[in-house]
Amino acid sequence: MRKLSIKLGILFCIIIFGLEAFMFSYLHNSIVNARIDDELSSLQARGNSHRDILEKHFVEDSISHVILMESEALTDVVIVNQKGEVLGSSFDNENFKKYLIYPQKTEIKKKGEIVEDDWKNKPYIITISPILQKKEIIGYVYMYQETDSIHTLIGRLNEHFVLAGIIALLLTFIVIILLTKALTKPLVKMKEATYQISKGNFLVDLPKTSNDELGELAVSLKELARDLNFLKKERNDFLASISHELRTPLTYIKGYADISLRKNIEEEEKEKYLRIIVEEANRLSTLIEDLFELAKIDKNTFLIQKQQINLYELLVKLQIKMSPAFKEKEIDLTINCPRTSSLHGDPARMEQIIFNLLDNAMKYSPKNSKVEVIVTARKKETEIIIHDNGNGIPEEDLPYIFNRFYRVDKSRTRSLGGTGLGLSIVQELVQAHEGTIRVESKLNIGTTFILSFKTYGGEVN
Ligand SMILES: Nc1ncnc2c1ncn2[C@@H]1O[C@H](COP(=O)(O)OP(=O)(O)OP(=O)(O)O)[C@@H](O)[C@H]1O
Ligand SMILES: [Mg+2]
Repeated sequence: MRKLSIKLGILFCIIIFGLEAFMFSYLHNSIVNARIDDELSSLQARGNSHRDILEKHFVEDSISHVILMESEALTDVVIVNQKGEVLGSSFDNENFKKYLIYPQKTEIKKKGEIVEDDWKNKPYIITISPILQKKEIIGYVYMYQETDSIHTLIGRLNEHFVLAGIIALLLTFIVIILLTKALTKPLVKMKEATYQISKGNFLVDLPKTSNDELGELAVSLKELARDLNFLKKERNDFLASISHELRTPLTYIKGYADISLRKNIEEEEKEKYLRIIVEEANRLSTLIEDLFELAKIDKNTFLIQKQQINLYELLVKLQIKMSPAFKEKEIDLTINCPRTSSLHGDPARMEQIIFNLLDNAMKYSPKNSKVEVIVTARKKETEIIIHDNGNGIPEEDLPYIFNRFYRVDKSRTRSLGGTGLGLSIVQELVQAHEGTIRVESKLNIGTTFILSFKTYGGEVN
C-alpha cells in the first residue's frame, strides 16, 4: 500500500537533493572565488599605493616608512630593486625569499600583476607592482598575504553552508513526505474502494476532493460501484423471477402427475390431468426458449441479418399463421398495408416482433373485438401500428411493461399464461434494429403499439 508513496518520495528526493547539491556547490564556488578575487585585488591595490609613494621618493626613508606601515598590518611587503636585491621587508625572517619570484619578463604592467593566487596549497598569495621613474623600472613592490586567514574565512563560510544545507535538507524532506502523502492518499483510498467493490461491497464512500483527474477518477469509481450494485440487484431480481416462473409449472406438473398415478382414478379425469401436464410442459419449454433468446441478446451473440423485407407479404403470412387463434376468440384481424411497403431488417426477427405484439393484442382483448395493423411508409422511416380495443393497460403500469417478467395481472392468469417476457424481447429486438417502440393505452378502451424502423439500409438519397 505504501509502495507508490515510497517510490514517489525517493524520486522526489533524488531530483530535489540533486538540484540542491548542484546549486549549493555552484553558490559556494562563486562566493569563494569572489572572496579570493576581492582579497587579491585589495592586496594589489595596497601594493600599488605603496608603489605610488616610492615612485615619488625612492629613498631609504620612504622604504622604511612603507615597511613600518605593513608591519602593523596583516599583509607584508617586500621591496626589491630592478635586479631583485631586497631593499627591505616587513617580515621578521627570510622565509619569504622562497616565494619571491623575480620577474623573468621585464614587461610588468603598471597596474601590477598577481604572482601567486594558489591559496589552497601555498602559504601566501602574492602580487607585484613595478616602481617606475621616467618610464624605467627601478624596483618592485611585492605584497604578501598569508593564506591561513583565507582558510579560516572559507572555513567559516563552509560552516554556514553546512548549516544551511542541513536545514534545506530537513525542510525538503518534510515537504516531500507531506507532498507524496497528499498525492498518494486519494489513490490509496481508491485502491481500497476498488478492493471493497471486488469483495461485493458496493456502498463505497469516496469524497470528491479535487476537480482534477483524481477527483474524476473517484467519481467514475462511485458510478461504477452504483452500476454494479444495480446490476447485482437486477440479476438477483431476475433470478428470483426465473426460479419462480420455473417452479410454478413444475409444481403443477408434479401435482397432477401424482394424482394421475393414483389407482382409483377415472380414465376421463386422468386424461384431463395429463392434458394439463402437457400444457404446463409446453409453457416451460416456451419460457426456456424465451430466456435463451434474451441470454443471446445479452451476450451479443445474437445476429441480425438485415435485408429489404416486403412488409405486406410478411404481414399476410403472419395473418394466415395466426388466424386459427384469432378465429377461436372471434377477433377480427385486419391488415392495412401498402403492397409495396418495404423495410430494412431481419425477416425472422421482424416476424417475431409483430407476432408477439399480435399475440398480446389477441390475449388481452375480449371476444368479438378488433385488432388492426396499420403500416405508414415514409421515405426514411416506416411506421407499424398495432392497435386493439382490448383491456388496455393501467397508466401506472405503462412504464414497466417492457421489463422482464412484468405482468399487469400479477396473479398467474392460467387461461392466458403469459410469463411477461414477450415485450422485453420485443424491445431488445427493436433496439437491435435501431428502431423505436412506443405504447399508448387506455384502460378498457384499447392499446396501441407504435413501431418505427428505417425504410432503407444505409443512406437514403
Ligand atoms: N395489447 C395489450 N393489451 C393489454 N395489456 C397488454 C397488452 N400487451 C401487453 N400487455 C400487458 O403487458 C404485460 C407484459 O406483456 P408481455 O408480452 O411482456 O408478457 P405476457 O404477454 O404476459 O407473457 P409472454 O408474452 O411472455 O407470454 C402483459 O402481461 C399484459 O398485462
Ligand atoms: Mg406477450
